Amino acid sequence: MAVATESLEWFLPVPSVQELAIQRLDKVPLRYARDDLDQIVTNTPSIPSLRVPLIDMTKLVNPEFHEKELQKLHSACQEWGVFQIINHGVSDESLSNMKQQVQEFFDLPFQEKKRWAQKPGSLEGYGQAFVTSEKQKLEWNDMIFLKTLPLQNRSLNFWPENPQEFRKTLETYSEHMRKVSVSIVRFIAMGLGIEAEQFCDNYKEGMCEVRMNCYPTCPEPERVVGLNPHADISGITLLLECGDMSGLQVLKGEHWVNVEPVNGAIVVNLGHIMEIMSNGIYKAPDHRAVVNKSKQRLSIVTFCYPDSSVDIGPAEKLIKSGSSPVYKTITQAEYFQSFFNRKLEVSFINSLKI
Ligand code: OGA
Ligand code: NI
Repeated sequence: MAVATESLEWFLPVPSVQELAIQRLDKVPLRYARDDLDQIVTNTPSIPSLRVPLIDMTKLVNPEFHEKELQKLHSACQEWGVFQIINHGVSDESLSNMKQQVQEFFDLPFQEKKRWAQKPGSLEGYGQAFVTSEKQKLEWNDMIFLKTLPLQNRSLNFWPENPQEFRKTLETYSEHMRKVSVSIVRFIAMGLGIEAEQFCDNYKEGMCEVRMNCYPTCPEPERVVGLNPHADISGITLLLECGDMSGLQVLKGEHWVNVEPVNGAIVVNLGHIMEIMSNGIYKAPDHRAVVNKSKQRLSIVTFCYPDSSVDIGPAEKLIKSGSSPVYKTITQAEYFQSFFNRKLEVSFINSLKI
């Protein structure tokens, strides 16, 4: 029998949720039932004032609109930590190719997908994330997680060869996402009033990881969680919806707000690294995924990091201008070590405070 270890990098194999969904049960198995939580409200009423901000990237580069859009971005980062971008420069073709490949992958028979299954001690591959104890409640989510950039981080043995175009498409897609991360980070830095070029340079050779999520239909969506509430540990995260089903929710004050899919848009959310670099001016928002009864939802999530030689700490300029640093400055190796060896009862981000 597999034994849970302290490290979250470990995992225990659990059933495929897609395979469970095929059985057309009328109740979810007990390990998924979150009766420990308050009712999970799947249809938060859409309050118009609670819409995730939409940023138009062409306005950011247009002298006529730059100032106003930058202000909007700065407020979005301060008040939400999440926003959607349009006119991001990635072609519809690149986005739709990627969606198509991910859809085709999850449509494969289970036995075929298992060729790229996770292996003990590794997060990468097809399976379920962060299952470390026989007792823990499970999420209504199957996924495949792959490190895509830089090249030397790839473990191709986890990269599907079926569908045929998968590898090539993912490769191109992550290059595109890295470019988007560089331009967003440039504007985020401008909004903070710190050295924008230096700051975004860190992302030019940055690390990217892609997590492709499948949330199958669920007989009792109000009793399960697609993805537990969490904040990402990335610099920024870029999320692409494969369809028009909502499911991503972000915590705004005390409300879980639906992030409604916008055609052609990419959802950007700030991760802990950005929170630290901004010295806490921006926060990495808590978010989660809920599921539904009628339609499977797929999302493609790219975690972007500065390159591995960059230390994680508050931007110098913010400190020089008189505020005291809220977070320690540590190497990325130390940062990831603290994450994977953290004690679950202590908040990760608080453990990095001075
Ligand atoms: C994630 C994530 C949300 C979603 O993978 O970190 O937050 O809607 N995903 O898939
Ligand atoms: Ni996330």
